[in-house]
Parts: sequence; structure tokens; C-alpha cells
Amino acid sequence: MSMTRRTMLSLISTGTFSLAIPARLAARVELPADSPIISFPQGVASADPQADSVVLWTRAEPDAATAQVQLLVQVSRTEDFTDIVLDALLSTGPDSDYTVRTYLQGLAPDTTYYYRFLGPGGTCSRRGRTRTAPASGQEKAVAMAFVSCQSYEQGYYGSWARMLQNDEEAGAEDKIQFVLHLGDFIYERSWHKRVDGSPQSRYVPPFPDGVDMEDNRYAISLADYRHLYKTYLNDPWLQAARAQWPFICIWDDHEFCNNNFQSYHTYGDTPVLAAKRKHSANQAWSEFIPAVLNELREQPAHGFEAVQLDGDEARDNLAALGSLCIYRKLSWGVHLDMIVTDTRSYRSPPCVPKHLAESLGLAMNTTKLVEIADGGRQYNDNNPPEFLPYGDGKTPNPARTRAPGSCLGKPQRSWFLDTLQASTATWKLWGNALPLIPMQLDFSSIPLAGLEDGVVSIDPWAGYPSELRYLMDSLAGKGINGVVSFSGDHHMHGAGTLYSTTADSATRAVSVDFSCAGLSSSSIFTDIEAVARDGNTDFQPLVYREPEDATGGQSALVPVWNMTLLRGVLASFTYSATGFDSIASWLGPNEANPGLRYVDTTANGYCLAQFNAQELRVQMITMEDLRSPFVQAPEIKHRASFRIAKWKDRDGPILEGPEFSGGAPFPFGSPPV
Ligand SMILES: [Fe+2]
Repeated sequence: MSMTRRTMLSLISTGTFSLAIPARLAARVELPADSPIISFPQGVASADPQADSVVLWTRAEPDAATAQVQLLVQVSRTEDFTDIVLDALLSTGPDSDYTVRTYLQGLAPDTTYYYRFLGPGGTCSRRGRTRTAPASGQEKAVAMAFVSCQSYEQGYYGSWARMLQNDEEAGAEDKIQFVLHLGDFIYERSWHKRVDGSPQSRYVPPFPDGVDMEDNRYAISLADYRHLYKTYLNDPWLQAARAQWPFICIWDDHEFCNNNFQSYHTYGDTPVLAAKRKHSANQAWSEFIPAVLNELREQPAHGFEAVQLDGDEARDNLAALGSLCIYRKLSWGVHLDMIVTDTRSYRSPPCVPKHLAESLGLAMNTTKLVEIADGGRQYNDNNPPEFLPYGDGKTPNPARTRAPGSCLGKPQRSWFLDTLQASTATWKLWGNALPLIPMQLDFSSIPLAGLEDGVVSIDPWAGYPSELRYLMDSLAGKGINGVVSFSGDHHMHGAGTLYSTTADSATRAVSVDFSCAGLSSSSIFTDIEAVARDGNTDFQPLVYREPEDATGGQSALVPVWNMTLLRGVLASFTYSATGFDSIASWLGPNEANPGLRYVDTTANGYCLAQFNAQELRVQMITMEDLRSPFVQAPEIKHRASFRIAKWKDRDGPILEGPEFSGGAPFPFGSPPV
């Protein structure tokens, strides 16, 4: 192959280069004669495509430990590399674990490019393909996929395999232009068994440094986090997906640790500062997840900057957070601006401490307890109660003098709203790790029981209700329309409408959230079922039903949890007792989950979306079981399709759907048999 010319090249930081497409290729580029032999075991990737730029990534592993390696990057307009527009010499080394990022500018808009990396002795990476965004004034429909939660151990990557095969067969207009990955790209902790005691589908090899517990093990060091990314990226289907489409990635909790906030882990009863771990997690993310960060000069985003930790808790917490900033805005022509946020690094601690509800005699956090704790000193128009209205009524309100909770942190929240307001795009997509749709249990609907509604989890936006209200009210108050959220984290498909409830707007729809199931991570139903089976017999009718079949044996489990979220606890108690879903349907909907339209809590899968001037279409795809290895791409179990017409001014979105193909989950379809 011909090595042509060295281009304008500058080194931004370790393993990160900025290059521009030259007007004409000229001189040859040669690798130095003494370059070590390299391979590319984690494949290639591209990221954050814009109209004239993209980031290209690989990891160039030397065959023996060495200080530096050299490699070439080539970019072509054709897949056979007969029309090369750039080749350039790059280098990388152990400081970035031999990963290398190339920020490439000067590309043509809305254009497909192919790229590859070359080492000495004829070694060559797999071929990557990427696609730039339409130019700023270009009226072009956008087709994309969004995913989250790809545990390596709990399932195989059949979702990636199916997405790749279907996209290959799709028409030009339907082909995926990029993938939005909403976090949990890796899982820092792995469990020795599934919740039902069976073995995981596969196992991450032992950590270099990680902590081993009786039932799980977890990453603690830079070497551990690098080990996770390398293990995940050794999977052929994930590699193929990264080679096929540019990715836009944000993190959720597991890129650092479960249910984290700021630089704290929450494994135990009280939060523990883990600034060194956060710093290591950030460094590994920046090495293995390419993104445009430093290059967005008018945005807060910036790449990894190593910082010194000095042992002071407050300083170390902030220093570790400051080492990497990933919230940013990207644009696709006239029709789409994407604003992606970081809902972990700047959030306030969980509003209700662990075990507080239990100590007050509550089965779970109530909606009111969460409102009091999250609202802090501003609760009830700045009149928070002195004592919590539970138990003996003598427990002081721990949030009485605290500021209201925040999931984004004030600077990011201001940037987010300012960016939305300044956007003129038809659609403003919020790439949001955490679901906005509610997941509450309407116990108050049970007559005479005197119960209050419960909040299933306070880790997602449900734990930050005052800020969510502020955001939705701001959309209404500022007249910002066309905002939709794509989220992940919950390990279930879900879709619903969000409302503003300010006095001037009454209750009106302002946005819609589509929350994507885990690509391979165990479904939320699996976890909830385990809780129900673990001695919580009162809870069981809300979660599942095990009917007997005609021969007297047990037939398939019915995921009653779907009904509980959509139609409420009275409906699911009734269904579990009688088996008649028509009676149960009269008892809904679940008023504690306003706007919730669809859930499929047993799902694994992915989502597809298409934006144009008139409408947004979303398909939520549920895959067949992904726990076994496969050769042929697994099949789709069913698709739920939605549509939102572009709305004007104060009309608000109208969510149409779901329409199903290939069957429907309970209670939209018949119970499984
Ligand atoms: Fe997850």
C-alpha cells in the first residue's frame, strides 16, 4: 500500500492528536525503521461526528513492553482505500495504555469515510467506517440508535449482532447514522452468580488489583478499569458495532461505581469518598471512550487532566471530578441538536439516607418523604417540617436546612437550559443517562388502608423531583419545544410524557422520555422478582404470577410488574388473585405515574429513532433471550413503535403508540404461555 504524506499534526495530550485533512496528498509517510510490532486487539472506533470533524480511536498493543509505539492512520472516501484523503504518523505509549485518539477536521458534511491504522511489517487494524453530520443549514433526516447497560457477564451481545445485521439490510434512509450510548458501557462490579443463583453467561478475567468479596468483586485501580474496557472491547460484536458507526457516549454510574454521586461510592450504609477511584475511572474512560471534549472550545467539556490529590476530603472530591468534563452539545443539520449531560459527577447526595424509611416503620421511601428530603429548606414554600411525619413523629427532618437536591449541579443546569433555549433545531434531544419517567407504586389507591405512594428507587431522577420539576417548568416558561429525552439505566423499556405543573401552565405536556432497556444487563424484572421471592410474600402479587397450566404444572411467569407500574397496585393485586386482566384494566391507570405509556420490564434490547421536520419515530426493540452464546444473530421478540408529531408553541407533545409488531409484552398482549 502506498504511504503518502505527513499532514498537519499536533499532539494535544498523551495519545491524542489533532489533524486536518490536507488540500492535497504529497510526501510519503513511513514508520520509523525501529518501530515495535503492534496489534489492534480492541479494534477501532469513531466518535462525536460533526459536519466537518470526527474522532478516530484505536489501541496499538506492542508485542513487548516498550516506551512508545508508532502507527499510521489512513482515511479514505472509499472502502478499498483507493481514495485516501489523509495518512499521518501517530504515536502512543503506556501513559494512555497504548490507546490513541485522532481529532480529525476538514471533512465533508454528511459523508461516509473509512479509516484504518497501520503498524510496521504490514500489520493493519480492521477497517472502520464513520459518517459526518449534515451541515448546519442542511435539511436532512437523522436516523440513529440508542442503547445502555451492556454487562459483559449477564448476557451476550446479541443486540449488537441483530442491529448490525438489520442495518446492513436497511434502506439508505433507515440506516443508522450514529449510536448514542447512555452509559454502563462497563460494570465496575461483577457478581459470582446471578440473583437466582445460576452462573453468569461469562466472566471478566480476574482484576489486576480489584477487591474480592464473598459474592462479588470490583475494580479499584486504573489497571482494573483499563482491564474492564479491554475485556469488553475484546467482544467481536461490540467491536464490530464500534467499527461500523460513530458513537456518542456518556457515562452512568458503573463506569465508576454503583449508584455513585460525585467522587463517592455508596456500597455501604454511608457514602465513602473514593477520589482516587473516580480519578482512575475518568482516566480509563478518556482512554477507551473517544469523545470530542477539549475541541469544543465554547462548551464546558474538557478531556482528562491528571490532578494531585492531597488527602483533604472536600478538595479531593472536587479535584477528581474536575479531571474530566463530558457534558456537551453536538448538531446534525437543521433537525437535530443533541445535548448530553453528566448526571453523576455533580449531583447532590441521595436525599434520603439508607435505612431511614425502615427506621420510620415504612416499607419503602414514600413520595412525600422524598419530596421533604429533596426539597430541603425550600419544601412547602420554604416551610419544611421540623420533624418527619412518620414513626413517633419525633425524628428531626434531616433536610430542614439543606439546599434542594440537584442531579445536574447548578453550572451544568444553567448551561443545559441556556443551550436548549439557544437551539433553533427542530428537535432538541437530551442524551440523559437516567429515566425521567416515573416508577412509583400507588399504594394510596387502596381504599381505607391509609398508605402513601412509594418511590421504587431514588437513584434516578425520581430522587431529584424538585430539579426535574424546575426543568420541566423552565421548558414551559421559556417556550422551549421539541425537547425529548432518551435515557437508560432502568434495565427496562419505558416511554411516557413529562408535564409542567406551574400555575400559569396548569398541567401540560412539555417533553417525552424514552428509556431504553439494557443491551445485555439483566432486566429490572429479574431483580424485582428476586426481592419478591426473598421472603417478601406481600410484594409478590405486584411482581409476578405463576399460573398453572392445563396439566397441572407451572406455566410461564407473568410479569405483573408491568401492570403494577402502568395500571397500579389495585389492578395487579386483582389480576394476581383472579387471572383476569380485563377486570384489572378497569382499575388503572396508576395515578402516581402520570404520563407513563409503556413499560417492558423484562426486556433486553435497543432502540431506533428517526427525526425529520415533521415527526420523531422511535422503535423500542425487545430481543429474545440473550444469556446464551450464539452464532447467528438472535431474533427480535417484538417491537413497540411510537410517533410524536413536531409540536408548536404551547401545544405540547402527543405521544402516539405503542404499536406492536411480533407480539406484545404483558399486559399489552396476552400473558405468556
Ligand atoms: Fe445498568
